[in-house]
Amino acid sequence: MITNTELEYKGDLYPTKIVSYDHEVDSVSFYTDNSVILKVTVLRDSLIRFRFTTKGYFSNDFSYAIDKSHTHGYNFLEVTDEDEYYQIKTSKVKCKIQKIDMRLSIFDLNDCIILEDELGFHWEESYELGGNIVKMSKTSKDGECFYGLGDKATQLNLKGKRLENFATDQYAFQKDQEPLYKVVPFYIGLHNKKSYGIFFDNTFRTYFDFCHERRNVTSYWAEGGEMNYYFIYGPQMEDVVTTYTDLTGKPELPPLWALGYHQCKWSYYPESNLKEVAAKFRELKIPCDALYLDIDYMEGFRCFTWNKEYFPDPKRMVAELAEDGFKTVVIIDPGIKIDKEYFVYKEALEKDYFCKRADGPYMKGKVWPGECNFPDYTNPVVREWWAGLFKELISDIGVKGVWNDMNEPAVMEVPNKTFPMDVRHDYDGNPCSHRKAHNIYGTQMARATYHGVKRFAYPKRPFVITRSAYAGAQRYSSSWTGDNIATWEHLWIANIQMQRMSISGMGFTGSDIGGFAEQPSGELYARWIQLGVFHPFCRTHSSGDHGDQEPWAFDEEVIDITRKFVNLRYQLLPYLYTMFWQYIEQGIPMLKPLVYFDQEDIQTHYRNDEFIFGNQILVCPILEPNALGRRMYIPRGDWYNYWTNEYCKGGKEIWIDTKFDEIPIFVKAGSIIPKYPVQQYVGELEFDELSLDVYYKLGKEKSVVYEDAQDGYDYKKGRYSFLSFQTNGKNNELIVQVHKEGKYDTQYSKYKINLIGLPFAIKAIQIDNVEFLFDRETLKKESYLIVDKGFTALHIIGE
Ligand code: GLC
Repeated sequence: MITNTELEYKGDLYPTKIVSYDHEVDSVSFYTDNSVILKVTVLRDSLIRFRFTTKGYFSNDFSYAIDKSHTHGYNFLEVTDEDEYYQIKTSKVKCKIQKIDMRLSIFDLNDCIILEDELGFHWEESYELGGNIVKMSKTSKDGECFYGLGDKATQLNLKGKRLENFATDQYAFQKDQEPLYKVVPFYIGLHNKKSYGIFFDNTFRTYFDFCHERRNVTSYWAEGGEMNYYFIYGPQMEDVVTTYTDLTGKPELPPLWALGYHQCKWSYYPESNLKEVAAKFRELKIPCDALYLDIDYMEGFRCFTWNKEYFPDPKRMVAELAEDGFKTVVIIDPGIKIDKEYFVYKEALEKDYFCKRADGPYMKGKVWPGECNFPDYTNPVVREWWAGLFKELISDIGVKGVWNDMNEPAVMEVPNKTFPMDVRHDYDGNPCSHRKAHNIYGTQMARATYHGVKRFAYPKRPFVITRSAYAGAQRYSSSWTGDNIATWEHLWIANIQMQRMSISGMGFTGSDIGGFAEQPSGELYARWIQLGVFHPFCRTHSSGDHGDQEPWAFDEEVIDITRKFVNLRYQLLPYLYTMFWQYIEQGIPMLKPLVYFDQEDIQTHYRNDEFIFGNQILVCPILEPNALGRRMYIPRGDWYNYWTNEYCKGGKEIWIDTKFDEIPIFVKAGSIIPKYPVQQYVGELEFDELSLDVYYKLGKEKSVVYEDAQDGYDYKKGRYSFLSFQTNGKNNELIVQVHKEGKYDTQYSKYKINLIGLPFAIKAIQIDNVEFLFDRETLKKESYLIVDKGFTALHIIGE
């Protein structure tokens, strides 16, 4: 019996006993005598959906989050009727459903319990709103840890926390502040060295409680809709995350330039100011690929217009910037100014595209332009219209990317910061109130924008960034974490947010480097850049009202550090692009928290700071002022200090000294890290060599390098180059084997092979079994070889 808890409302209702069941192909439905139906659908052996209704029938099955092309199909499914329970068995798990109360538990095939209902499904009827508050509680196991849930500004392991999902414009949010901009109702549980995932696909306001209310209970509930969740079995966290990402969808590859450095401010104007910023980057030789126009480029904040005083000839300006390698990205918000002379407003009004209040009038609220109406992006006809609006910006003017903001949706000067809950939405033919559509509004806007930008950017790839998002938004857009603050605490938050977004399926994310609100010191800015270049999306942005935040707003030392780290990012572009490719192909997160990297090592379970960038680079930011170094945990395995090439054995906490122009970076032994030369923007240089940093390891290791034309869609027709390297280190020999796939021929003809950590002096080198002549003295001094690409085996033989 549970007593004294907030959860135990008097009015809660529970399923009674199961009176019948039926089994149809991949689904088994259980019926109670109080009209509850539980429908269990086996999508994959390790992916099972649980859907409950209390009405005796299910409403239309519709989800914005689930990617229709997700993988499904199972190897084995068996349903048995036991004395006290029904059992559904797949080739990975067994699920038992108790006849007496419909509570369920899931085991692996060794009868190890993975997930178990505490109260299980229960609900509270809401007379006033209609429908139910739907609730679920599970027992939590000793030592269980919890991860995921998107952009939460709290420690990585969510144990002990209660979190709320309601997309909110949370200007200058604080650590632990809830709720934030994004809604990803997906978490990963880990106990007994096994991981599983829960995706609660419900767009109403949801809550998750991880042993906060009660020590051994995890619960989640929603203010409406269905109890509808997916269980994903690991046992590795990678299995959970890749399955979740496959279920909710993966993006396409972005253009490579989108992985370069971006510079933003609220706002660069007029044209001469933007041009000065551009020129300064080139003068100081700090690489930069994209410049952003915030709301002031518009005429009175009217979307799809230009302020002709500030930007008299946008097409010419965008073209001139492009000649110097800069792509122009512009902001587009959802609020459409109420103005009878404004073409977007007029058309939307004529066609009845704006959201309406319950009693009929259009939803009216203040945003930057003053009073606005808001398109209902949950209506497919409206999305199609919206997509068409991008023609001029993209096709005619040459803008390369679009930035969607304020799409929680944000409304100013009202206490709840958003629409009233009675606002109506089409919800793709499932009409509903804002209670249900709120959390999905931003994603549907980003989706419409993505289709528009893609249509007009074709045959190039689109680039879209959004502030608000629901699970699945990664299919359409990158994102940033909203209005942070220039404080050391926010640097800590940004580091965790990006790791968390990565394992929540939404990897193409970054923070406003340096902080949006307030002014960073040079030291804070430098430390932020040092972290930010290891985030998939890398952009400096600031509110602009506290001073400048371009690298040159700080002293020479900070400028040099910025250049050094942005240069490093540009060198690592092929590595970064390869990790993106693994994300879009396999759903592998680009950043890996240490617990993801090695869940069996309990030392990793509460670590926040260190993470793996891609598969092979360990990064640990400096998060405090005046640091001369820091303590950090090196995960198990063999590593090399990136700066000194010193070998370091993992599985221990160490103190590491750092200078101001360094942060701790380690490379996994056995790795081959590809590098391009530093370029001021993607595609600036033609080069004839790909650098390969080869880190010796005793034993075998695999590395891969994905490349293509860096933009466009030919990669989908096989025009890519995929190199897979295998290193095999022995006591006095190192063998590197290469296998190439794909029809794309890279521009370079040679590899520059940098040999790091060889424990022997080189006696001979063979390439495809042919003796390779080299100058002993030079090799000794420089430790690199230049060889023609296209070989399959390189043997380095020791004395
Ligand atoms: C919001 C955005 C911010 C933007 C500003 C003005 O605060 O989060 O990035 O600069 O609006 O458009």
